[in-house]
Amino acid sequence: PPVIDRVRAIVAEYRSERGALLPILHAIQAEFGCVDHEIVPLLAAELNISRADVHGVVSFYSDFRSEPGGRTDVRLCRAEACQAVGAEQLVAHAEQALGVKLGQTTADRSITLNQVFCLGNCALGPAAQVNGRVYGRVDPSRLDTVLATETA
Ligand code: FES
Repeated sequence: PPVIDRVRAIVAEYRSERGALLPILHAIQAEFGCVDHEIVPLLAAELNISRADVHGVVSFYSDFRSEPGGRTDVRLCRAEACQAVGAEQLVAHAEQALGVKLGQTTADRSITLNQVFCLGNCALGPAAQVNGRVYGRVDPSRLDTVLATETA
């Protein structure tokens, strides 16, 4: 199947590097939008490491996801400065409004909700990043407005 051939080709490209697994996972995610669970055994076999090792790396790095993300990427800052000005209330609001938990994608695949630890916008917390753009002073109603605009 084409997917397997592509994965093999990506592995072949990086195999000789030290710590090849990370660049391979990045390349796979860049191409397929995620690192599907079904690819894990193939990677393990190709690299001669255990499936648990591959799983461990995929789940350790929040950059990797095991299913494709939504069209709109939402990251809410939960680091200290934002915590102090209501980040947790914002997270709770977002989870409730979207019907997903952090790390999940809405059923219609329109939005993926994630956490992030500091966006360099600490003076203007709570901070959020939506499709790469950073927003400050994001209270629940501002988040609703931003999402309505970004998903329009
Ligand atoms: Fe939230 Fe720095 S702590 S942007």
